[in-house]
Amino acid sequence: MKILLTGGSGILGTALRQSFLAHEINFLAPARAHFDITNAPQIQKYIEANQPTLILNCAAYTEVDTAENDAFICQKINTEGVKNLLVSGIPLIQISTDYVFHNAPLGQLIGEDASTNAKGVYAKSKESAEKLISAANQNAWIIRTSGLFGGESGHFCASILAAAEKKNELKVVEDQWTFPTRAADLSEWIVRNFVLSSAAQGIYHGVSSGEAPNWKQVAEWLLGCAKKNIPVASCSSRILSQSAARPGWSALANIKMPQLPHWKDAVSEWVKQTKV
Ligand SMILES: NC(=O)c1ccc[n+]([C@@H]2O[C@H](COP(=O)([O-])OP(=O)(O)OC[C@H]3O[C@@H](n4cnc5c(N)ncnc54)[C@H](OP(=O)(O)O)[C@@H]3O)[C@@H](O)[C@H]2O)c1
Repeated sequence: MKILLTGGSGILGTALRQSFLAHEINFLAPARAHFDITNAPQIQKYIEANQPTLILNCAAYTEVDTAENDAFICQKINTEGVKNLLVSGIPLIQISTDYVFHNAPLGQLIGEDASTNAKGVYAKSKESAEKLISAANQNAWIIRTSGLFGGESGHFCASILAAAEKKNELKVVEDQWTFPTRAADLSEWIVRNFVLSSAAQGIYHGVSSGEAPNWKQVAEWLLGCAKKNIPVASCSSRILSQSAARPGWSALANIKMPQLPHWKDAVSEWVKQTKV
């Protein structure tokens, strides 16, 4: 087995590289300059030279708000890029997102087979990639995740702790519910269930377990774990000037595979392992 990991410098890609090393899995993780998923001739040349047996695609345009004014590039990376990878015919694991579900019914966990309803440029670009993969009907797995955190920056948990250093009170939305998922937990789960053992092709949900929290609850738990005694006030998504619509309720149900850790354990583990 030789895995070609794209997006290896990102939050999930970094965790996957660590998991591959720990499990002594043979992998390649070319930088974007050497393997740009929007560059079809470069992809073909790289694949011919390196002969990977599985592609794990973590490369994506992930700035959801910026995407609203950058639709062409977002679509090019998140949809056309996936089309380019499919052309190789190599088995593909595609990482997708809870954002493909907009305004799902509050309180009902969303199963793998639920119909998608994306809103916004980023969400639609990921939904289109899912549709391309399903229509191609080749050896491929779609793994949807949500609220990824890992490493020291670039995600909700890191932003909250950084804000806690500067402010006496934080305001966090309580009208968006999702499962915050630790990249290290997800990468181990992917390795065990999709790399070291085989799963039927299809759609899977790789998210933390427990009861789906809203972001205010996540912030409160996180601050408690980090022993930062700062009050958290609630606010509504409406008062934030975010360009991209947020899904509201996007709590994914992992019905098909072993569960990931509880989101509270995931957050406390991240706090333990991160210099905060
Ligand atoms: N973050 C979340 O909360 C979240 C939630 C649900 C789903 N997801 C999905 O999970 C996956 C991984 O997300 P992440 O948060 O780990 O992403 P990330 O930290 O934003 O990293 C994105 C990665 O994609 C690479 N990339 C961007 N454009 C590329 C291109 N044209 N060719 C090759 N590589 C390119 C980036 O490379 P450079 O460093 O060179 O720019 C970077 O390594 C994505 O599919 C995302 O949609 C993320």
